[in-house]
Amino acid sequence: MRRVGVLTSGGDAPGMNACIRAVVRACLARDLEVIGIRRGFEGLLLGELEVLDRARIANIVQRGGTILGTARSGRFRTVEGRIDAVRVLRAYRIDGLVLIGGDGTFRGGAALQAAGGPPTVGVPGTIDNDVVGTDRSLGFDTAVNAALWAIDRIRDTATSHEVLHFVEVMGRHCGAIALASGLAGGAEAVLIPETPTDEERLAAKIGKAIARGKRSTIVVVAEGARPGGARVVAENVGTRMGLEYRVTVLGHLQRGGAPTAADRILAAILGVEAVDALVGGASGISVGEVSGQLVRTAYGANDEHGRGLDARQLAAASLLA
Ligand code: F6P
Repeated sequence: MRRVGVLTSGGDAPGMNACIRAVVRACLARDLEVIGIRRGFEGLLLGELEVLDRARIANIVQRGGTILGTARSGRFRTVEGRIDAVRVLRAYRIDGLVLIGGDGTFRGGAALQAAGGPPTVGVPGTIDNDVVGTDRSLGFDTAVNAALWAIDRIRDTATSHEVLHFVEVMGRHCGAIALASGLAGGAEAVLIPETPTDEERLAAKIGKAIARGKRSTIVVVAEGARPGGARVVAENVGTRMGLEYRVTVLGHLQRGGAPTAADRILAAILGVEAVDALVGGASGISVGEVSGQLVRTAYGANDEHGRGLDARQLAAASLLA
């Protein structure tokens, strides 16, 4: 192997840059050249490639987003698009690829290999933390801390005014950010897509807490907990209870910002491991960390059973929230 390509795909996540840096440095240490592919699979099939050297990756370890950019690609979903992508990889003599992203990105890697492309190894990078084969994906810890930062501030004003607050966090299909930030922020309730939202029960619970003298109530709602997200839950519950309420939708502020130390360290470890895996002949797998150990997981494991939420966090939240 002489030349390795790297791309980021899907929603960006803090820690992707730290991972690009790790991949480049690990490759250079092995005398491998590195080519960065801009704008994910879309940029690949359009030939948007650049050499990544030490200068290009200087001072990015602390930056959120991805210096390579990311895009959704309709063309890559077609057979012709994938054939074009393989043609570009051959023209640039790329012998292996590191793909940083979520399960959609890994599906792209599998499709690329099936179309005759080189070996690929995935690094889980998504704030959603919904990827099989790792306890945490890059960006999750930063996103949870961003949500917690907001929840703590809302708690101050919620206590002063005794108003009911709903905070919507990201997670269209996965409640991991809601669960972790709700637990850390002492939320009175956490609503997630994995469990049906029962507004009647929620109203009863809030009513009991207020009757006990609780001065602030924060409900953390994953955006996918029910159609319409926190706005609809707030309207239904607030109206039902005849209470004043406020809704804060955190949105994309959770996806930006400097990665936490935990995300940077994970990015470094997994970036190095991805290069080791590629050089060692691995292909069609993602690297991850489970219970402190590095593991390699075949693409597709996600499609079979999904990652699921942290059972201990779920148990704690059902007792404490
Ligand atoms: O990165 C994952 C994610 O943040 C999801 O939680 C969310 O549903 C989605 O991306 C929104 O991304 P976009 O606004 O780019 O479509």
